This record gives sequence, C-alpha cells and structure tokens, in this order.
Amino acid sequence: MADILAAARASKGSSPPAAAAKPAAPAKPPAEKPAAKPAAAEKPVAKPAAKSAESGSAAPKDTASILAAARKGAKPGPVSKAEAAALAKPSEPAGKKKIAVPPMPAKPDYARPERSTVAADTSTRRSFMAIAAGALFGSSMAIGFSSLAATHLMWLLGLARFMFPNILIEPPTRFKVGFPDALSPGQVETKFIAQFGVWIVRYEFEGQPMIYALKSVCTHLGCTPNWLEAEQKFKCPCHGSGFYKDGVNFEGPAPRPLERYAISVADDGQLMVDKSRTFQEEMGQWRDSASFVSV
Ligand code: FES
Repeated sequence: MADILAAARASKGSSPPAAAAKPAAPAKPPAEKPAAKPAAAEKPVAKPAAKSAESGSAAPKDTASILAAARKGAKPGPVSKAEAAALAKPSEPAGKKKIAVPPMPAKPDYARPERSTVAADTSTRRSFMAIAAGALFGSSMAIGFSSLAATHLMWLLGLARFMFPNILIEPPTRFKVGFPDALSPGQVETKFIAQFGVWIVRYEFEGQPMIYALKSVCTHLGCTPNWLEAEQKFKCPCHGSGFYKDGVNFEGPAPRPLERYAISVADDGQLMVDKSRTFQEEMGQWRDSASFVSV
C-alpha cells in the first residue's frame, strides 16, 4: 500500500494523497478496513509526539506530567483522586487563632436556690398521709379479709354440721317386758325405767287384778318420780308429788294421776308395751282394755 502511494506521488507531483487514494479505494480489500482504524486511533498519541518534536524537547509521559501540562492554562485542569480528596477538606487557615474560652466560675452560695421549708413540710405531710392511709387501708383490708375468711370458715362448719345432724336414737315404741307369770301380785318392776321409762305393775284397780304399764313422767312438770318400795308409793324428787301404786296422785302439786301405756299379750305369751298410745285416768281411759292385761 505504501509503495502504491509513493508511486502515485512520484508520478503526479505534490497532489494530495486523499485525491490519489480515491481511485485506489475500490481496490482495497474489505478485510483491511479494521486495520486502518487502529492506525487512526494512534493519532492522539502521535500528535503530542509531533508537538514535542516541534518544541524540540522530550516531554514526560506519566500522569503527573500530563496533569501539569493540562494546568498550564487559566482554567483549572483535571485533578487526581488524592488531590480531589485534599481539596474537599479545606484546612484551617494558618493565620486564624483559636479563641480559648475560660471555664465558668463556681456559683456562690447566695446564688444557689435554697430548699423551701414549705416544700419540706409538704413532703413530710404527704409522706405521713401516705403512711397513715397505707396503714388504715391495709388494716381495713386485713380486717375485711379476716372477716371474709372467718365467715367462710363458719359457713363450712355449718355445712359440715348440716351434713352430720344429731341423730336421736330412741328406743322402739313397742317392746316386750316378759311373761305375766314372772310378776308376783303387788310387784312393781323398775328395770325398764332407764331404757323405756316405764314401770310394769301387777296390782289391782277398782278391785280388778291386772298388769299395767305406768309412764314414769310426773304430771306436774315432767320429772321422773322414784318408786319407794318401803312406802309403797311413787315420789317425785322435784316438788314432792306422791302417787299410789295404781298411779293415782295423792300429795304434792301433781294435778292428776300418772298415765298408762298400752299393754297386751304378744303371740309368744309375753307382755307387749306400746308407747305410742297413752291412757289417762281422769278421762276414764283406764277402763279401756288396751290399758291393762287381766290376770
Ligand atoms: Fe313432779 Fe313437780 S315435777 S312434783
């Protein structure tokens, strides 16, 4: 290519190479175009070299020299990263003096705020009131809870008492007291007093021999008379009422004779007393056949 251009220049004198190259352009193979581009890229590097060559001195090609060459103009040129960082932190001017501030003087006593006696008194009163209220409220709460606990305890005790009521085990109202022949005429059997509260007497009433069951309850105020064998009478220890063997009252405040229980002969021949029925002499009930057993 260079040979071709040189031959063309030699034949046509000093004609511009661009014009001479024009006819040769079609002859260029398409594959050589990329090769021309690097040649064009080399232009910026070649220009300084040419300029330096024109100035007649060998210029350095490192970054500092390039930057220094660029700063030769009036406008500030490009800077490196380190220089930019240094420019971002402007240092204090050397001539500026730092003003030293003296420390604050201590506050005199007269300038200090005095503690108010009123505030002290108020705080003392408040604390006293708080303690008094706490004690009162606490004691009230304690009393309240104690009362509640006592009430619950009493309620539980009452419930337990309700679950286990008193049971009065009374003797049966009907019971046997033995055979009639076991009693001798005029005998008063006292062995059933403690258990059944009754005397079994073999005696006579209105001239009729019989066995009857006398209720051991004084007709005055309900005491239990005693049988006095020696005196052949029933004597009440409370107010002194006396009753004959047949139960008729004859002394003391007792207003009427002793009562009888119903008596009969059971299937086995024993005497059967029934306390569910009573007979009173003043009402004529002793004549009832259920009130005695004839012997
Ligand atoms: Fe028997 Fe008064 S209770 S005499």
